[in-house]
Amino acid sequence: MNKTILITGASRGIGYETALRLASQNHTVIATARSEDKLVELANSADPGKIIPVKADLTLETGIQKLADSVSKFESLDGLINNAGAVHRESFMDTDLSVFQELMDINVYSIVRLIKALKHKLGNGSHIVNISSMSGYQGSLKFGDLSAYGAAKAAVVGLSEVLSAEFTDDGISVNCLCLGAVQTEMFAEAFPGFEAPVSPQQMGTYIANFVLTAHQFYNGKVLPVALNDPG
Ligand SMILES: NC(=O)c1ccc[n+]([C@@H]2O[C@H](COP(=O)([O-])OP(=O)(O)OC[C@H]3O[C@@H](n4cnc5c(N)ncnc54)[C@H](OP(=O)(O)O)[C@@H]3O)[C@@H](O)[C@H]2O)c1
Repeated sequence: MNKTILITGASRGIGYETALRLASQNHTVIATARSEDKLVELANSADPGKIIPVKADLTLETGIQKLADSVSKFESLDGLINNAGAVHRESFMDTDLSVFQELMDINVYSIVRLIKALKHKLGNGSHIVNISSMSGYQGSLKFGDLSAYGAAKAAVVGLSEVLSAEFTDDGISVNCLCLGAVQTEMFAEAFPGFEAPVSPQQMGTYIANFVLTAHQFYNGKVLPVALNDPG
């Protein structure tokens, strides 16, 4: 069955590869980020019409409205992958409060905005997958200088668990993946000089499969998707 799935953060890295994988399986993907040229390149890499690029800044209400308008052309949404995010690496004492606010805005409040705007399109049997990090996974080995990022990613975990309970009666499953290290631009920024053991293509394949099938088995789960590496 052809599904319609929206993925954020699709201009590069994990989101780009997840979108390609979904499109290669004949699903329709609404792919969003701020970098329009990269989204167009992504759409051109798939069969015509399978990937719909939508340039939008998730921290702006205008961006959210643009996405809501795109989704309104479809009868319903089967999947929503909240993958967009940003990292910041600095000692806690040097990290300004405004950085915490910025990271909360893109990593957490964007998810809040988007789910509020699209929930009426998510029907019985749909699946929301929120992408968090091992930095926000309780009890995992932590690395310093990632306090704003870790705090934001932990908030994604809590949000996901509460929404999974709240949306049960609507038949919407909500799960959260806490990723370990994946070799992307973000990883290189956070851990310069390290090499991640997982490629964005591998993680994209995993997430594509997860959004399509895992809600048959899981709801409200926070799953570590990690080897023992920084992430
Ligand atoms: N890579 C890892 O090792 C790792 C580990 C744990 C968790 N994760 C999580 O996995 C997700 C994807 O990470 P990645 O490594 O693929 O990161 P990435 O390569 O840096 O990509 C981040 C994506 O988010 C988009 N984005 C950032 N700010 C945005 C905004 N204001 N509005 C709309 N889109 C925005 C970027 O697009 P534009 O700049 O074009 O807007 C880009 O497509 C993130 O949530 C990250 O925290 C990654």
